[in-house]
Amino acid sequence: MQPQTTDPHGPLRTAGTSVLSGRGLVKRYGAQHALAGVDIDIQPGEAVAIVGPSGSGKTSLLHVLAGILRADAGEIHLAGQRIDQLGETRRAELRRTEFGFVFQSGMLVAELSAEENTALPLLLGGSARKPALTAARRWLDRLGLGGKEARRPGELSGGEAQRVAIARALAHEPRVIFADEPTGALDTRTGRDTMNALLNAAAETGAAVVIVTHDRDLADSVPRTVAIRDGRIDAGGAAA
Ligand SMILES: Nc1ncnc2c1ncn2[C@@H]1O[C@H](COP(=O)(O)OP(=O)(O)O)[C@@H](O)[C@H]1O
Ligand SMILES: [Mg+2]
Repeated sequence: MQPQTTDPHGPLRTAGTSVLSGRGLVKRYGAQHALAGVDIDIQPGEAVAIVGPSGSGKTSLLHVLAGILRADAGEIHLAGQRIDQLGETRRAELRRTEFGFVFQSGMLVAELSAEENTALPLLLGGSARKPALTAARRWLDRLGLGGKEARRPGELSGGEAQRVAIARALAHEPRVIFADEPTGALDTRTGRDTMNALLNAAAETGAAVVIVTHDRDLADSVPRTVAIRDGRIDAGGAAA
């Protein structure tokens, strides 16, 4: 278990022990501060829920941490190494190898089967087709999708499609999985099951998970909660 923190600056930890840390992160859109100076530390294998109302900066934080967006100020370290100053090619490579992504509604490739979708990050990473598909099938099986490997996204339920997205995020065994409202398009029960599937699968590989949600009930199933409001960590709003 990781200790919970409600300290706005997080506990004093050296960058070396965190798998991912952000310091003084600022992101502006014109005069609008989407992030107004955020410090966050994610420990290896830890699951963290980022909660906050719509427009509070959750997606901006996720995208900045993952290197999808560049921050206007601040530093990001992955396993102790600064990554925010890397060039676009190297950042894209990190996103493909060290990070996995689950979005609100899958973002699966409609023309590809479940197993091809799952294998995609491995194939893009240079893996040969056969071992990539074997690994993909293993992950689909673990996520309860055995027998549905050949289906296309349109032939899967919303919950099943999100499990494919989870399998895809995990197949290359990333260090950190980012999930932005992964259950936002699902009913409550399926959402809860999908959240559990994500947490369990990540625990199996030792990946840390950063899950954005505006659903307090779902956040309660995640060991640590970080609340964000108006682009700042909201110590008062974090789970006690
Ligand atoms: N591409 C953009 N252009 C302009 N403003 C943006 C853009 N993306 C986000 N914002 C603004 O930044 C703030 C934070 O947005 P966001 O990070 O998407 O919040 P959340 O994910 O919590 O809903 C909001 O006020 C939003 O309107
Ligand atoms: Mg968002």
